[in-house]
Amino acid sequence: MKEQENKLYDIFLVTQLGIESIAEKELRLKFPHLTDYEVCTGGILLYSINLSNCVSLQHQMRTTTRILLRFYETKVRDLPKLYNKCKKLPWNQYFIGSIPKINIKSKSSRLFDDRKIESAISGAIREYQEANAVKKKVLETYKDHKCELYIRIENDHATFSLDLTGQRMDLRSDKPFSDKAPLRSTIAAAMTCACIDKLEAIRNIYCPMAGTGTLTKEFQNFYRPIKRKFSYMKSPLFETLSFKYLEGPEDTLSNLSFSSSDLDQASLEAMSKNLIEGKVHKEDFYNVKDLQEKTLIIVNPPYNKRVKYDSSPQNFIKRFSEHLQTLSPEIACIIHPHRFKLKGYEQQVIGPINNGGIKTYLSILSKQNRQR
Ligand SMILES: C[S@@+](CC[C@H](N)C(=O)[O-])C[C@H]1O[C@@H](n2cnc3c(N)ncnc32)[C@H](O)[C@@H]1O
Repeated sequence: MKEQENKLYDIFLVTQLGIESIAEKELRLKFPHLTDYEVCTGGILLYSINLSNCVSLQHQMRTTTRILLRFYETKVRDLPKLYNKCKKLPWNQYFIGSIPKINIKSKSSRLFDDRKIESAISGAIREYQEANAVKKKVLETYKDHKCELYIRIENDHATFSLDLTGQRMDLRSDKPFSDKAPLRSTIAAAMTCACIDKLEAIRNIYCPMAGTGTLTKEFQNFYRPIKRKFSYMKSPLFETLSFKYLEGPEDTLSNLSFSSSDLDQASLEAMSKNLIEGKVHKEDFYNVKDLQEKTLIIVNPPYNKRVKYDSSPQNFIKRFSEHLQTLSPEIACIIHPHRFKLKGYEQQVIGPINNGGIKTYLSILSKQNRQR
């Protein structure tokens, strides 16, 4: 068992398209000792990770959608060979007594029919399970857990991964009340992470147009572990590890004060229940006349898709930009299909970010010559 704990795996942190570089920033901030990795389209591939670091990553990485543990790689050119190789794999190490959901992606390979590939792999798993029956008590412990495998075949090279996550990681289960057009928590965390090294001069975080409070919540929780259940907890591979996630770096955000507002009553009610820290109030953003000193505005304004503007897109952008300019926050971090600029501000743009199928950008505007 010790041997299993010390074994090293390559793992893939899946991210939404467009936030890979921010996920890398989070990784470096929270796991400075993990230096052997590659940033790819759609995620980060980490090399030689032990199981206890897998557990910590699963709970600490807030910009990640899913974590996949690579446990087998092989050349495959035909189904009978795939079947024969698969029936020899030690499946009971990963799951017991059930057939997982198998997700297949095949590209530039002789094997391309997903249904046939899936049927070969699940048939091989069944044959393995019949030949390697476990005790009834062990079977009872594991049989109801339906895990997922991700198989990627590219140029006849197959990579088998075990999903450690289960339900997507942006579903945190700490924000029970939803409303129209909520932002994915992973993108909200990415917005926090994008601003995290600009906070020395900041005392207040203000989220106008806050909807159900996702942005505020993710800002407050950036250094806190995600405490929901994950799929790895039901895998025999992790059974000797206690499900303790290493705490992240100390919560360096506790000196900030938070306030969030929205003009919509239903959003406000959901937000009041979702946010246990900071002030929540009903307010039309355009009625805000001034800000407290040292304020960072973080905002996900309507896109005119699910939440409509009450004017033309051009007028909306103009009014919103002019109002921000008047309020003159220290920093503004905006996610929107439009890229914002303000006079007297340095502009950093990250994206495009796939935000629920909509192409958006992160505009981070920092007041030039800020006094520190
Ligand atoms: C895209 S949604 C924000 C979603 C939010 N980030 C979440 O995850 O729940 C935009 C929000 O802006 C609010 N809104 C639109 N115009 C506003 C205004 N003038 N003042 C305040 N809130 C406004 C809408 O009620 C809506 O909740």
